Amino acid sequence: MKIALLGKGKTGGRVLELLLEKNIPHTVFDSKNIPTLENLKGHDVIISFLSGDVFLKYRDLLVNSKVPVVCGSTGMSWPLGFGINLKAPWIYATNFSLGMNLVQQMILIMKEAKSLLSDYSFSLHEVHHTKKLDSPSGTALSWKKWAGHEMEISSERLGDVAGIHEITLTTPTEKISLKHEALDRKIFAEGALYAARKINNLSPELHLFQDIVQAELLKGK
Ligand SMILES: NC(=O)c1ccc[n+]([C@@H]2O[C@H](COP(=O)([O-])OP(=O)(O)OC[C@H]3O[C@@H](n4cnc5c(N)ncnc54)[C@H](OP(=O)(O)O)[C@@H]3O)[C@@H](O)[C@H]2O)c1
Repeated sequence: MKIALLGKGKTGGRVLELLLEKNIPHTVFDSKNIPTLENLKGHDVIISFLSGDVFLKYRDLLVNSKVPVVCGSTGMSWPLGFGINLKAPWIYATNFSLGMNLVQQMILIMKEAKSLLSDYSFSLHEVHHTKKLDSPSGTALSWKKWAGHEMEISSERLGDVAGIHEITLTTPTEKISLKHEALDRKIFAEGALYAARKINNLSPELHLFQDIVQAELLKGK
C-alpha cells in the first residue's frame, strides 16, 4: 500500500510518524509539494489532513485521480449527492479516534431523553488549540447530529489542546455529562490508517468512518 499524505501539520505529521514507523511507502504533499494528477499516480490511498478550505481547492483533482481517499479535513461541507459519481471509495470522519465510535453509541442513548424526560436541554462545549480554523469543531457538529436535538455549542481556543468535547443533558433536577478528551493526536493518525487499510474493500461512494467501524464491531459479535 502506497499512501499519498496531504498535509503534514499537527495531525498529518502524526500520520507521517506512523508511516515511517511502520515502513509504509508514502509521498508527502504540502504547500511546497502540491498534489497534481501526475504525482498522485501510483498511490493506493490518499489521506488528507489539510484544512477544509485547502482540501476544497483539491477536491475535484482528487475525484479525477480515481485514487481512494481518507478525508479528515474539517470545516467544509459535502455537496448534496457528492458520492454518487465517485469512481473510488472515500471515507470521511470529523474525528478518526476509534474511541469516538463508543462515544457515538453513548450519545445515541442520550438521544432517548425525549422518550423519558419532558423538561430538558442539551449543551456542548469544545476546546481546541488556538490555530484551529473552524469553529465549532466538526466533531461538535457530528455530536449534535447524533444527539438529534438543538443545542448551544460553545467553543474555547487554548494552547495546543488536541480536542476536548463535553455534551451535557440538563433537567431541573439532574445533569448528565459525557466527555471525550484526545490526549494525543496519534489517535487520529491511527484511525486514518485503519480506514486506509479497509478502504479498498468498499464500494465507490462516500462512506462515514463511523459506519465502517460499526460494521466491523457487528462482525465481531
Ligand atoms: N478528522 C480528524 O480526526 C481530525 C483530527 C484532527 C484535526 N483534523 C482536521 O485536520 C485538518 C488539519 O489540521 P492540522 O491542525 O493538522 O493543520 P495544520 O497543522 O495547519 O497543517 C496543515 C497542513 O496543510 C498543508 N497545506 C497548507 N496549504 C496547502 C496547500 N495550498 N497545498 C498543500 N498543502 C497545504 C500545510 O503545509 P506546510 O507544512 O507546507 O505549511 C500543512 O502541512 C483540520 O481541518 C483539522 O480540523 C481532523
